[in-house]
Amino acid sequence: PDCAVLALRVNGRAHRVPAAPDTPLLHVLRNDLALNGPKFGCGLGECGACTVLIDGVAARSCVIPVRAARGREVTTLEGLGTRAQPGATQQAFIECQAAQCGYCLNGMIMTVEALLRRNPRPTEDELRSELHHNLCRCGTHIEILRAGLRAAQ
Ligand code: FES
Repeated sequence: PDCAVLALRVNGRAHRVPAAPDTPLLHVLRNDLALNGPKFGCGLGECGACTVLIDGVAARSCVIPVRAARGREVTTLEGLGTRAQPGATQQAFIECQAAQCGYCLNGMIMTVEALLRRNPRPTEDELRSELHHNLCRCGTHIEILRAGLRAAQ
């Protein structure tokens, strides 16, 4: 496939990445930029594990071609905070011990983050509805919901 050098802005930093423009954004983030917060789950836009923010809005990076991210601000889990200084949403998930295997948590955290950016005080129903299409196979949805509510406090 045709390869081009694409200019991307991720977590506040400019990058130039050689990639075929149709490559899923997720692959570029993980394979070229070593940002492994976003996870590969279904690869079909169904599970939410690969969620990132594009201009502050939650997006499923496994089904978004990298060319669609040009000129936009991409934020990954790494952009919310660090291990030493987690962001507020990340901190809430840590305090609520919302992970079992943890594979879905990137998507859960990024989805809650996107919601809180546009609606800082969501109701429980709003939170539930926002997370409705993020799948967790371990069944820790209750802890995840608690973490989301804590993040909104
Ligand atoms: Fe992208 Fe499942 S891996 S939605």
